[in-house]
Amino acid sequence: MSDAGSPAAYRTAYDASLSDPEAFWGAAASAIDWVTPPTRVLDDTDPPFYRWYPDGELNVCVNAVDRHVAAGRGDQPAIHYDSPVTGTKATITYAALLARVRAVAGGLRGLGVEKGDRVVIYMPMVPEAVIAMLACARIGAIHSVVFGGFAPQELAARIDDAAPKVVLSASCGVEPSRIVPYKPFLDEAIRRSDHKPERCVVLQRGQQRAELGERDIDWRDFESGEAALAGADPVTVAATDPLYILYTSGTTGKPKGIYRDSGGYAVALRWSMENIYDVRPGETMFTASDVGWVVGHSYIVYAPLLTGATTVLYEGKPIGTPDAGAFWRVISEYDAVALFTAPTAFRAIKKEDSTASKVADYDLSGFRALYLAGERLDPDTYEWASRALGVPVIDNWWQTETGWPIAANPKGLELLPIKAGSPSVAVPGYDVRVLDGSGEPVPAGVEGAICIKLPMPPGTLPTLWHDDERYVSSYLSAYPGYYLTGDGGYIDEDGYLFVMGRTDDVLNVAGHRLSTGSIEAALAGHEAVAECAVIGVRDELKGQVPRALVVLKSGIDGDAEGERIRTELVARVRAEVGAVAALHQVDIVAGLPKTRSGKILRKTMREMADGGSPAVPATIEDASVLDALGPVLRGS
Ligand code: COA
Ligand code: AMP
Repeated sequence: MSDAGSPAAYRTAYDASLSDPEAFWGAAASAIDWVTPPTRVLDDTDPPFYRWYPDGELNVCVNAVDRHVAAGRGDQPAIHYDSPVTGTKATITYAALLARVRAVAGGLRGLGVEKGDRVVIYMPMVPEAVIAMLACARIGAIHSVVFGGFAPQELAARIDDAAPKVVLSASCGVEPSRIVPYKPFLDEAIRRSDHKPERCVVLQRGQQRAELGERDIDWRDFESGEAALAGADPVTVAATDPLYILYTSGTTGKPKGIYRDSGGYAVALRWSMENIYDVRPGETMFTASDVGWVVGHSYIVYAPLLTGATTVLYEGKPIGTPDAGAFWRVISEYDAVALFTAPTAFRAIKKEDSTASKVADYDLSGFRALYLAGERLDPDTYEWASRALGVPVIDNWWQTETGWPIAANPKGLELLPIKAGSPSVAVPGYDVRVLDGSGEPVPAGVEGAICIKLPMPPGTLPTLWHDDERYVSSYLSAYPGYYLTGDGGYIDEDGYLFVMGRTDDVLNVAGHRLSTGSIEAALAGHEAVAECAVIGVRDELKGQVPRALVVLKSGIDGDAEGERIRTELVARVRAEVGAVAALHQVDIVAGLPKTRSGKILRKTMREMADGGSPAVPATIEDASVLDALGPVLRGS
C-alpha cells in the first residue's frame, strides 16, 4: 500500500488521509484478517463520538498470533525475552506462543472470565505478561495492565475503576539494585480497594517467591490445569469492543481509563509499522520500555506481533545491566532493525559512555533507525545519538490516549529532512492544529495549544472507560470540534511541529507520565501537612523530576521537625505512588501562591524553579507569598 521511497509518498498519503479518510482507512483495513469485514469505515453519526469500522468483527489475538502460524511463520521467533537482571534468555516462536496463549486463555475461561470481563495484569517484563495480554484478547476479555513500578494506592484506584474478575501478577519484579515484591503490593491494593477480584494468579519467580492466600493460584498450576489443557478458541468481538483499558495520569489523583477499541487499533498499528517505523514482517523490533506503558502495549506487544515481526522483551536498563553497551548488545544479538525507547535512556547512556565507545563492540550492520518518544527529544541528545549510531534518529510525539504517533518522521513512507527539536510532521490521519485561547489557529511559529481536529484516526481513544462525560470535559470541551492534547507548541513554516511541554500539571519523569494530584494526595495524607503543591522541574537525566512545596499545620515547628517530616514525606510518596515518582526534594514553605479563586500557581512556580522570570498573573491573591518563595524555588 505504501509508496516507500517515493519522494512525495508522505504528502500523498497525508492528503489522502484527510481528504477521504474512509477510503484511506478502508484500504488500510485490508491488512487485518476480519471475521466480518467492515462494510462501513467510519461512524460519524454521533459527534463528538466517532467509531471506526462499526460493523466489522475480528479477534486481535488471531491477528497477532494464529494467522502467522497459519501463514507458515510458526518457527519464526515471536518474542526474544532477554533479562540481564535475572540472567535469563528465551526465544518463543509463533507456534509456541500460540500454544501458551491458548492455554492461558483456557485457564482464564476456567476461572469464569468471559467476553467483556476485565482482567488486571500487574507484572514485570516477563513473557507471561505478554501471553496474558494476548490470552485476554483471545477470549474477548479486556485487559488492564498496571505498571509494576506503581505502589498499592495507584493499583487500588485502577482495580476499583476496572473492577476485574481476575488479577494476573507475579511474586516479584527485579530491579538492578533490589527485588521488588509485587505480591504484598497486590494484597495491600486489594485490601484498600472496594472492588475485590475473585482470583489472583501469581507467577512465582525464583528470585523471591510469594506466600499465596485463599484467593491465589500458582501460575504453574493455572497454565497446566485442566482448563488450560483444553485451551480456548478465539472469540469474535466487534471492532468497537474494547481490547484494553490503560490508565494514565491526568492532573487529578484519579487516573483516566483510556478505552482502546479492537479494530481501529489493529489497523492503525499494522499501518504504522511499515509506514512510520519501517519494520516489515519477519524483521525484529526492539522497544525498550515496559508493557505497563502505552509504548509497551503498542510497540513491544501488539504492533510487532500484528505484523508478523519479532519483538524483544527486555527486562533490564540502558545502563548498569551490566553497562552502557546493553542496548547495542541486544540489537546485534537479535539483529534488530529498529530500536524504540525514551530520550532519557539515551541521556543515561551518554552520561556513562560519553564517547559511545561501546557501540564499536557490536555488529550493528542490520540496524536502520532509532525512534525516541515519551518526552521531548532535546537537540543535544538528538545530536549525540545521531553521531553515536550513524542512523536516522526519529523523534515521535504521541500519548497514551492516541495509542500511536500523532507526529513523526514517516520513515517507512519517506524519510523527510530531520529538524532537531521537532518530531517532524503530522502523521496521516491526524489533522493537527495549534490554537490560541479563543480557538483561532495561530500563525506559523507562534505557540499555542496543540489540538487535533475530530475525528481522530483509528486506534485513538473513542472515549474513557465508563465515563463519556469525563472524556468530553477533559479533551473535547475546550475547543469544540477538536481534541485537546494538553501539550503546547508551534508549527513552523515548513509544517514541522515543535512540542514544548504540557500546558497542564501532568509530570513527565524519565518518560513516565505521573499526576501532580496523586503525589499531592500522598503528601496531604501526612498529619503535619496543611497544604502542598507539586511541580515538575527540569532535570538533566530524567527530563523532569517532581518537587514538593509543603505548608505545615500551625503549631508544628518546621525548624525542629522539618528534617523528620521531609524524610517521612519522601517515603510516603514512594509507598503510595511508587518509586518511579522519584520525589527527592521537599521544601517546607510559609505559604503557596494562589489566584483569588484559590488555584495554586504551579506553572508560575515551575517557571521560576527552572530559572525563568514568569509574569505574575494579575489574578494573584497575594504577590508577597510568591516573592517569598523566589529564593527557595531558585535555590538562591
Ligand atoms: N517495578 C518496580 N520498580 C521500578 C520499576 C518497575 N517496573 N521501574 C522502575 N522502578 C523503580 C526503580 O528501581 C527506581 O527505584 P529506586 O529509587 O529505588 O532506585 C525508581 O523506580 C525510579 O526508576 P527509573 O525512573 O527507572 O529511574 P532510574 O534512576 O532507576 O533509571 C533510567 C533511570 C533513565 C535508566 C530509566 O528511567 C530508564 O531506563 N528509562 C527508560 C525510559 C522508559 O522506559 N520510559 C518508559 C516510556 S517509553
Ligand atoms: P504518555 O501518555 O505517557 O505517552 O505521555 C504523553 C506525553 O508525553 C505527551 O502529552 C507529551 O507531553 C510527552 N511526550 C511524549 N512524546 C513526546 C515527544 N516526542 N516530544 C515531546 N513530548 C512528548
